[in-house]
Amino acid sequence: MPKEIRINAFDMNCAVHQSPGLWRHPRDRSTDYKTLKYWQDLARTLERGLFDGIFLADVAGIYDVYGGGPETALRNGVQVPVNDPFMIVPAMAAVTEHLGFGVTGNISYEPPYSFARRLTTLDHLTNGRFGWNIVTGYLNSAAKATGLAKQTAHDTRYDIAAEYLDLMYKLWEGSWEDDAVRADKSAGVYVDPAKVHRIHHDGEYFRLDAIYLSEPSPQRTPVLYQAGTSPKGVAFAGRNAECVFVGARSKGALAASVKAIREAAVREGRRPNDILIFAMMTVIVGHTDAEAEERLRDYRHYASREGALEP
Ligand SMILES: Cc1cc2nc3c(=O)[nH]c(=O)nc-3n(C[C@H](O)[C@H](O)[C@H](O)COP(=O)(O)O)c2cc1C
Repeated sequence: MPKEIRINAFDMNCAVHQSPGLWRHPRDRSTDYKTLKYWQDLARTLERGLFDGIFLADVAGIYDVYGGGPETALRNGVQVPVNDPFMIVPAMAAVTEHLGFGVTGNISYEPPYSFARRLTTLDHLTNGRFGWNIVTGYLNSAAKATGLAKQTAHDTRYDIAAEYLDLMYKLWEGSWEDDAVRADKSAGVYVDPAKVHRIHHDGEYFRLDAIYLSEPSPQRTPVLYQAGTSPKGVAFAGRNAECVFVGARSKGALAASVKAIREAAVREGRRPNDILIFAMMTVIVGHTDAEAEERLRDYRHYASREGALEP
């Protein structure tokens, strides 16, 4: 069988995601990111172009290290101001039928019980087109915003994520049986109490004793994305991820990451190809090579080195 390539758009609920400076281009509309129309137009365009999905990045804090403060990031609008990525999904789902949504959610700052419900709600509203990109965060500014002095150590964050996921699976998969909701008008029974189970979790990082709030959504557990190529990150992907997002600087580095991820899946009793791998790349299209090259030259004219937070 021929291999299929899957293509996601990569964006963020802000004006300046990965193309610093381009917001100044005369044809750029990214400052409209606060409007439903912007996201609905994009969703329609992606569906028309047969994209598999849109992947939305997110950060829980501000870039305040470069230059010793937040001024450079603020002046260049680098991933700030940034709105909640989950809120725009239903608007895009309403104008599409096939487009998938992969949305970044940070386990360090979202309590599992309420966060699980938010994702279930989105899986219902998209009719099973929803995915979660599991991140643990990389910004101390985000940790400080929640009262911590700094981020939890890298490997500990993955340990917390592992337990977080185990708890999410219990909530999504173990609380409500498929036929728990009867909505039986003549019997006057909406939910069969015998088919709803309490979840008990007493772990190292989380404790919970509750019935889950949402009825099962089309996928129950949404599609799980992850990005991270450290040994802990790869082990986490091997166990949990259905899609891994990698940013590689060369073919060789990409091949090594892909090999490690597939081996990690096998160690968890899965098949190597159970994980889809998405590589991050910038594509500029034109009717001809010359047109694409001309566009690249034009875009470069607006690109901002300072906005890339590069020395
Ligand atoms: C392509 C790509 C996209 C990412 N998007 C986000 C994001 O939106 N939000 C976030 O907090 N981290 C994001 N990350 C960071 C990862 O979640 C992870 O923290 C990072 O890759 C380091 O993980 P590692 O130490 O396991 O390699 C992204 C990473 C990659 C490679």
